[in-house]
Amino acid sequence: MSAKLKVAVLASGRGSNLEALLAAIDAGRCAAELVGVLSDRAAAPALTLASARAIPTRTVLPRDYADRDAWDVALAASIAELAPDLVVLAGFMRIVGSAVLARFPRRLVNVHPSLLPSFAGIDAPGQAIAAGVRISGCTVHLVDAGIDTGPVLAQAAVPVLAADDGPSLHARIQRSEHALLPAVVNAIAMGTLMLDPRPRYTADDALGESVLVAPPLLLHRAD
Ligand code: GRF
Repeated sequence: MSAKLKVAVLASGRGSNLEALLAAIDAGRCAAELVGVLSDRAAAPALTLASARAIPTRTVLPRDYADRDAWDVALAASIAELAPDLVVLAGFMRIVGSAVLARFPRRLVNVHPSLLPSFAGIDAPGQAIAAGVRISGCTVHLVDAGIDTGPVLAQAAVPVLAADDGPSLHARIQRSEHALLPAVVNAIAMGTLMLDPRPRYTADDALGESVLVAPPLLLHRAD
């Protein structure tokens, strides 16, 4: 895949991962171009962030559609208008359906605040605290029809500290997400992480290696 990967971001919330992508692009660490930000929530701060940068925004609100399938078809069409090479789900709080999956095969990635396959679904940091694990982290993975079940592309480990609760752990994990997600997007842009036909890093790729060995570095940098 050539440089300047066209990326669309789907976000429901704060948009700190979107912000991290933008910062990495500005700093020349991520060879991507953000072609649009879509949300299922009109009030998503991520939309404000995008508008401030003159990045096209779209809202596809579930209440405007008869059912989930109709919403999914509309979402797929809305994403397709932006003609992205890659679609990044960064805090998108709905499950995309078959229309989106079929339209962007192996072109949908999600960032999740746990080391999958542990703690899929909502409140992964809270699940990690409840389970008493000492190490958690974040995962960037391909999206499939399941909930946080697609092939893992990259992960970073984060320590769970004795005083942590769900929000404090999530905040630490998010700092790792902000490094990992732009690195993965850049690896896809540079062709060193290939999503076809089966996700894999090129064998001799230094950048891919650095993504994969990120956990100990991030571990030392946390707190
Ligand atoms: C992130 O922690 C991500 O892993 C999860 O939702 C959160 C989104 O945060 N899927 P933000 O909106 O990017 O700040």
